[in-house]
Amino acid sequence: MEKLMISGGRPLQGTVTISGAKNSAIALIPAAILAESEVILDNLPLLSDVAVYSEILEELGATVSWDGNSMRIDPSHIISLPMPNGPVKNLRASYYMMGALLGRFKEATIGLPGGCNFEPRPIDQHIKGFEALGATVTNEHGAIHLHAKELKGAKIYLDVVSVGATINIMLAATRAKGSTIIENAAKEPEIIDVATLLNSMGASIKGAGTETIRIEGKSELHGCRHSIIPDRIQAGTYMIAAAATRGNVLIDNVIPKHLEALTAKLIEMGVGIEELDESIRVIGKPSYEHVDVKALVYPGFATDLQSPMTSLLTQAQGVSVLSDFVYSNRFKHVPELIRMGAKIRVEGRSAIIEGHSLNAAKVKAADLRAGAALVIAGLTVEEGVTEVGGVEFIDRGYDNLVTNLRELGADVWRQTL
Ligand code: EPU
Repeated sequence: MEKLMISGGRPLQGTVTISGAKNSAIALIPAAILAESEVILDNLPLLSDVAVYSEILEELGATVSWDGNSMRIDPSHIISLPMPNGPVKNLRASYYMMGALLGRFKEATIGLPGGCNFEPRPIDQHIKGFEALGATVTNEHGAIHLHAKELKGAKIYLDVVSVGATINIMLAATRAKGSTIIENAAKEPEIIDVATLLNSMGASIKGAGTETIRIEGKSELHGCRHSIIPDRIQAGTYMIAAAATRGNVLIDNVIPKHLEALTAKLIEMGVGIEELDESIRVIGKPSYEHVDVKALVYPGFATDLQSPMTSLLTQAQGVSVLSDFVYSNRFKHVPELIRMGAKIRVEGRSAIIEGHSLNAAKVKAADLRAGAALVIAGLTVEEGVTEVGGVEFIDRGYDNLVTNLRELGADVWRQTL
C-alpha cells in the first residue's frame, strides 16, 4: 500500500505544464469505437483510467498502440462482446461504452460503472436518451443490456444537466438515422472536445457547448487524428495549490477561459493572477479574504474543484461558505481536514469554513478530488509530515503529481508501507 508523504510549508515556485483532460480522454477513447478505421488521440494523460480503457478496447478486439502520449486505436475488427464484469467495473466512465457500442453495433452489455463513489450517481438520463433513440434497456443482474433494431434520431430533453448523459447520447446519436436534438445539454469544454473528435470522424454535430445540440446521424464514420484539450481541473488544482502555499507558479498549457470561475474567486480572495494566452500565473499573498463559492454546472465553479478549494479556504481570514449544487454530499474530504485542525462544519449542501492553520496528520482520500484537497492541505502545513492514503484515487486524475510538485519545490514523496 502506498501513501503520499508531504513535508509542507514551502511556497510552490516555477512552472507546471498541464496534461490532456482526463474527463475528455475517457470519452474520446470509447468514441473511437464509432469509426471504421484508425483514430489517433494525441496529448493523452497517462492515467490509470486511460490504461483501463485501453484494456477494455483490446478485449473487444481493437488494436491499441502507444507512442508517448499518443494512442493509436484501430477499431476495424472490434465486436460488441458482453462486458458484465471485469475492467468496466473499475471505471465510472465505462458508461460511455454503452453509447459507443450501441451506436456502432445496436447492442451492448456493460456492467454498472464503478469509479469514485462519493455519492449515488444515477444514469437515468443516459438511459432515457438511449430509449428515446429506440433502444430497449434492461438491467440484468447489475449489467445494463441495450438493444435496438434500429436507432432513430429523437428530441431529448435532459431533466438534469448531465455531462455523461449529454456525451453518451451524442455518441449513440451520431450513428442513428435522422436528426437528434439534445435540449438542456451540459456545456462543459469536454463535450465540445468530444463533438470536435466526432465531427473530424465525419459526424455532423452542431451546438456543442450550448444547451441545444443537434446531431445528424451518419451510417459510417472514419478515422482521424485529434489532440485533447488541457485538463482544466488539474490546472485549477495547481492554481489552488500555488495560492494555498503562498507561492508563485506559472500554470502552462491551459485555456484560461475554462478556468474563469476559479480565477474570479481567487482574485476576490486577493490572490495575484496574471492571464496570458495559454498560461496563468498565480501569485500567492500573505493573507486572503474569505469568499462564498457555489459549485455549479459549467461555466459555473467546477464541482471537481470544490474539495481542493475547501483546503484553500482554510487559509483565508474569517468564514467562507462553499456550496455544491451539482452533488448534494461531496464532502468526504471534510472529516479528514478536520483531523488536520481545520474548522469546518457541513450543513446540507454547504461547508462552512473558518480560517485556521492546519497541522500534520495521517489522513485518507476517499475519492480523487478529496485526495487533491488533502495534498493541498498537507502542502500548507509548516511542521511535521502529513501522510495521505488512498493514493490510487489520486492516480486516477493527476499524472506526474509527485514529480510536478517536487519540480515546484515541494517536499513530497511516495512511500510503500
Ligand atoms: N445525474 C442524474 N442522472 C443522470 C446523470 C446525472 O441525476 O443520469 C446527476 C448526478 O447525480 C449529479 C449531476 O446530475 O448530481 C451531474 O452529474 P453528471 O452526469 O454531469 O456527472 P458525470 O458525467 O457522472 C462528470 C465527471 C465528474 C464531474 C461531473 C460534473 C467524468 C467521467 N466525470 O461526471 O468528474 O464531477 O461530470 O462536472 O467525466 C472527477 O473528475 O473527479 C469527477 C467526478
